Amino acid sequence: MNHQSWQQDISDRAPRPCGNFTTGMDRIGATGYETAMADIKSLFVTRLYRAPLSDLGDAVDPDELEASCYSIAEDDEAGQAWCEREGYPGYTSYASLTDLPWRFPVFQQLKDALDKHVMAFAEDLEFDLDGRALVLEDLWINILPEGGTHGSHIHPHSVISGTTYVAMPDGASALKLEDPRSGRLMAAPPRKTGAREDLRTFVYVAPNVGDVLLWESWLRHEVPMNMSEYDRISVSFNYRWEG
Ligand SMILES: [Fe+2]
Repeated sequence: MNHQSWQQDISDRAPRPCGNFTTGMDRIGATGYETAMADIKSLFVTRLYRAPLSDLGDAVDPDELEASCYSIAEDDEAGQAWCEREGYPGYTSYASLTDLPWRFPVFQQLKDALDKHVMAFAEDLEFDLDGRALVLEDLWINILPEGGTHGSHIHPHSVISGTTYVAMPDGASALKLEDPRSGRLMAAPPRKTGAREDLRTFVYVAPNVGDVLLWESWLRHEVPMNMSEYDRISVSFNYRWEG
């Protein structure tokens, strides 16, 4: 069959189940392409965990948490100075306070709940932890004002990272997650508009106040510009594998 008659041949037929994958490049991208009864599976999956914080452990009062975030931010002069010096928009306690759960009962409550969520996620990931726990390494406040962004980054030296959301006014940015293989895309075409979520290169997740999101720490993410006139407040954290 020559090239022309082959094209004629497939255009005359309705799509049919077909097990033959090796029919030549001419057919890639053609309309009316035959449907293969192939076994297509997802490998090397990236998991994203989302749950209301209150699903596990004692409920953490979001109003108390928000009031504590502002109160700590106001008192933390070292943190304010760090943000000023580093050009960090708003406030983070990341560089200045390392013991929030020890200092403030509401953060201890938060830690207790996060421990449970992280263990649930570790179960889902089927980690073999070899009897060693995943333990909280860092926990810090982020207050992002109008126009503030937090650029693309990963969380090195950790296993699971995440954020719980304290204030998400209308217009507050979603979390933007990036396909960890994006550096290898090379000549690949872009995905179609409306491609299903698990095939997209970037995924935006808009959490509600009280939600917790968890991901493996190598997953690159960013916070696009806060378009709300109000602060976007979150508490982020890292868990490491106990040595
Ligand atoms: Fe982050």
